[in-house]
Amino acid sequence: MNAPTAAERADAELRPMQAADLEAVLAIEQSAYTHPWTLGNFRDALASGYWMQCLWRQDLLLGYAVAMPGVQETHLLNITVAPAHQRQGWAPMLLDALALWSRRQGAQTLWLEVRESNQRALQVYARRGFRRVGLRKDYYPADRLQREHAVVMSLNLTPPP
Ligand SMILES: CC(C)(COP(=O)(O)OP(=O)(O)OC[C@H]1O[C@@H](n2cnc3c(N)ncnc32)[C@H](O)[C@@H]1OP(=O)(O)O)[C@@H](O)C(=O)NCCC(=O)NCCS
Repeated sequence: MNAPTAAERADAELRPMQAADLEAVLAIEQSAYTHPWTLGNFRDALASGYWMQCLWRQDLLLGYAVAMPGVQETHLLNITVAPAHQRQGWAPMLLDALALWSRRQGAQTLWLEVRESNQRALQVYARRGFRRVGLRKDYYPADRLQREHAVVMSLNLTPPP
């Protein structure tokens, strides 16, 4: 698919995820991951009051992100762009919105985990300023009952002195 035009980009907007969005969210989730979140995972996150935003272009769902607020930190739990709309710069838009919201909450650090094999996501996060800070061994389920390590990354949200 072609890159979005400036008008299409300007037309995109974030809206808080709602129960009514979950069917569309789950369709993207299942098309984007080998080990997707379940409907129950999204419902639990909604019930917990997590930061959950959907990125829409009119009535087209482009992607979404879920983050858990903590004490002076935020933990990104899920960020997904619909496969047909990947590589068009939507994930950075979601990350920027999360960083802005986190700063406003007084968070100093934004954390995430990412599969060691997910080069795409690692690259997107590194470009947005995230640094590798650790490795959680055998963190994720993988195919054939294997496990996969998670790279832990963090973004410093405090302004430089
Ligand atoms: C990771 C993800 C969120 C990135 O979202 P995105 O909106 O596509 O990100 P960008 O448009 O900024 O793409 C950035 C870079 O990632 C790489 N990339 C993104 N999508 C790609 C694709 N489908 N194929 C190959 N490379 C891709 C490219 O290097 C691209 O930069 P370039 O086009 O300048 O070469 C998205 O690919 C996704 O939802 N993947 C599946 C779910 C996932 O892995 N989520 C992260 C879990 S930690």
